[in-house]
Amino acid sequence: MIQASRIAADIEAIASQSEVAPAVGYSRPTFSLEWAAARDYVIAEAEKIGCAIRIDAAGNVHARPKQYSWQESLWLSGSHIDSVPTGGKYDGVVGIVAPLEVLRANPAAPLELIIFAEEEGTTFNLGMLGSRAWVGTLSAHQLAEVRNKHGQNYWQAGANYGASADRLADDIFNSAPYRGLIELHVEQGLAMWKQDQPVAVVNAINGRRQYFVTLTGIPNHAGSTQMADRNDALVGAAECCVVLEQLGLELNRELHHTVVTVGRLNVEPNGINVIPGRVRFVIDFRARTDAMLVQGDHRIKQLVSQIASRRGVPLELDASEALPAMPLNESICGLARAAAAKHGIALPTVASGALHDAAILAPHLPTAMIFIASRDGISHNPAEYSRIEDIAVATELLTEMVTA
Ligand code: GLV
Ligand code: MN
Ligand code: MN
Repeated sequence: MIQASRIAADIEAIASQSEVAPAVGYSRPTFSLEWAAARDYVIAEAEKIGCAIRIDAAGNVHARPKQYSWQESLWLSGSHIDSVPTGGKYDGVVGIVAPLEVLRANPAAPLELIIFAEEEGTTFNLGMLGSRAWVGTLSAHQLAEVRNKHGQNYWQAGANYGASADRLADDIFNSAPYRGLIELHVEQGLAMWKQDQPVAVVNAINGRRQYFVTLTGIPNHAGSTQMADRNDALVGAAECCVVLEQLGLELNRELHHTVVTVGRLNVEPNGINVIPGRVRFVIDFRARTDAMLVQGDHRIKQLVSQIASRRGVPLELDASEALPAMPLNESICGLARAAAAKHGIALPTVASGALHDAAILAPHLPTAMIFIASRDGISHNPAEYSRIEDIAVATELLTEMVTA
């Protein structure tokens, strides 16, 4: 039987592994000691249940009941344990502890648990590295180019945890041992909480584009440089932020759930009496259709480049990521609805504003997601919260789906 208390204990055990104190949030960059300790906790729990463990060359951890060979076709379910800096307890973690509890309650369930390595993108400035490397949409070479805050590339940072560039080509994803992927996750938005929908099935995931932008001005004296004589990179970036917000509002009127965010901004030299000489910032743009992603891409480039040239702060724009909007598998969604119906629940269908490893696997394997309501829609924030009883219901649905 699924036990909510065991799920709660798992969430707390993983939350206790954080680079910062709970009052500040939960920080587990991929391949940090805290990430490794959380991963080791999940591995140890899976081993207690009687699972065999395998770590693929991309650094993803797989656990399946020992009575099944690695070639047998099982369901796949999992998510991530890395977090954004000072994030919450539930993002990713819920998708790990749910299949763990399914296996605890049903040690012979035809289910493989997966911990995808590096989902968030904040460790190496690019997201879903473990899943993308596994399915072959990121090469060993591309992963050698990304860097964490210690200056290590993916392979250097992950060497102690099974990630291996040399093995990648031979250990690429093969769909034969899988019936499909079901990722459980918290919604991270307000819709379900507001409508009192504890659980929902997800039939689509928004696409995302990200841009690393640099504006280069002229650092100069804040006292002696007249206002008309400045090339201030920060006011250029500030204008970009405001104009991009307006663009997000405008595009959202055309297609609901279109969003534009500037989430990171670095100012150089960042002196209290120096006109900013260089600003680097990151634009994150999401939409529900590829047509809107193309339209927004064009507008973003046009607006930022107009601001840069009018203000005399030359622009460099690196489009670092372009992930399409991703429909999920209708028959797995149907399986979720049927499982819910058995529990007397009419399961709502929602789309995901956030990205997930499920979006990376979906072109390669029938994939769907189950969402759990997030209190007040708060996420990527230490105040993130989902009710344990809702997580338990979603875990019951996962059990039904994989044992149906
Ligand atoms: C992952 O959390 C994302 O940014 O969508
Ligand atoms: Mn997540
Ligand atoms: Mn996240």
